Amino acid sequence: MAFPKGFLWGAATASYQIEGAVDRDGRGASIWDTFSHTPGKVYRGDTGDIACDHYHRLEEDLDLMARLGLKAYRFSVAWPRVQPDGTGPANRKGLDFYRRLVDGLRRRDIEPMPTLYHWDLPQALENRGGWTVRETSERFAEYAGLVYKGLSDSVSFWITLNEPWVAAWLGHAAGVHAPGRKSVKDALLATHHLLLGHGLAVETMRQGDGNRLGITFSLSPARPSRDRDKEAARLVDGNANRLYLDPVLKGRYPEDLLEHYAPVTDFSFVYDGDLGVIAAPVDFVGANFYMRHLVRHDPEPQRDSMFASVNARIVIPHAVERTAMGWPVEPEGLKELLVRLKDEYGNPPVYITENGIAVHDYPDQAGEINDEERVRYLGSHFRAAEDAISEGSDLRGYMVWSLLDNFEWAEGYSKRFGLVYVDYPTLKRTLKKSAGWYSEVIRRNGPAG
Ligand code: FCB
Repeated sequence: MAFPKGFLWGAATASYQIEGAVDRDGRGASIWDTFSHTPGKVYRGDTGDIACDHYHRLEEDLDLMARLGLKAYRFSVAWPRVQPDGTGPANRKGLDFYRRLVDGLRRRDIEPMPTLYHWDLPQALENRGGWTVRETSERFAEYAGLVYKGLSDSVSFWITLNEPWVAAWLGHAAGVHAPGRKSVKDALLATHHLLLGHGLAVETMRQGDGNRLGITFSLSPARPSRDRDKEAARLVDGNANRLYLDPVLKGRYPEDLLEHYAPVTDFSFVYDGDLGVIAAPVDFVGANFYMRHLVRHDPEPQRDSMFASVNARIVIPHAVERTAMGWPVEPEGLKELLVRLKDEYGNPPVYITENGIAVHDYPDQAGEINDEERVRYLGSHFRAAEDAISEGSDLRGYMVWSLLDNFEWAEGYSKRFGLVYVDYPTLKRTLKKSAGWYSEVIRRNGPAG
């Protein structure tokens, strides 16, 4: 079996998606509170006010993780719990929650893997321009320093940002995520300031204490649907992948993208020296994989579509199975991206920090959730990862999205990604069939057969 000894099998969540308790212990408002409470933005008006109530059910959830046999747990820290207004000293009670979480993980021998930003920007900072202004990068580094100071004695893996592409483009150009802006220029500003914030945070946290620092990208290989879609596929790849990988791992923005966006901005917001900061060495790359993109050129894209800014749209190949999100199931895409990180980006240590599937799960008459689609999906993706390792990819861990069913952003509670089923009216947790299966994978250090 290819998975190396000590491979970190785990599961992932994010603060706004599971915690609830939005006004407890001094937490400030985030852009997702505002967005989810704005009529028409989230399916059925769902919000994260209660979510899985993880904030109050911490011990129960830690016990679930132990029952699953997780080796690692990736979670995110809610910035507005630590700095309610995005500036100033740490709110002790907010940090205390994460201290309890980290200690509880350590007691159960589970490696904590915090992400400092999984999209819940303090609303007070958004009111001052949010990620479209440079000041937010500096505020982020300050906040990172506070969390690092509070927890770094017990945490060795640190992830600065989750999926800057999604935060920048779905939040600032498509407008389907918080803060709901609809401007290509804003998305480019947000991209740069997110990446700059990452670099400044790495500078702040890098203290020679042996901790490992990284960043998580959403990575989706792109290919043309037809011959005449080649340029569109290159631009989609550029927008979704290279616009983030290149600055962090190569210290430059991709030329073809700078050229493509020249009519929108002169990029004067990129100051001399910024790319040096952004490219500060990281110890690992986090990769989230959900889908591969089959691309068509589209001269008149819908404004709220993901790749409108590069005149492209995504089509789904006919013969391919789709998840409840409508996303194509193509595990070979995972192998493709891992091999690319090896061949084109210097083979950095990689952790899959998210991969998983939404299924229309329901308890049967016996109360069991037989999510065979999830078992099949994860099995095929684990095998793709194994193939990539055999070809030399330095993959070191795999976090399944998600531990719990949770608030799936604009889709609200309608999409279930969990290994554990959450009955929202009662908040009762039930292990799905995939949870038992995954425990066995962890125990054997790889899928059977
Ligand atoms: C990723 C997000 C994560 C979750 C999954 C399904 O883009 O990082 O929070 O919503 O998608």
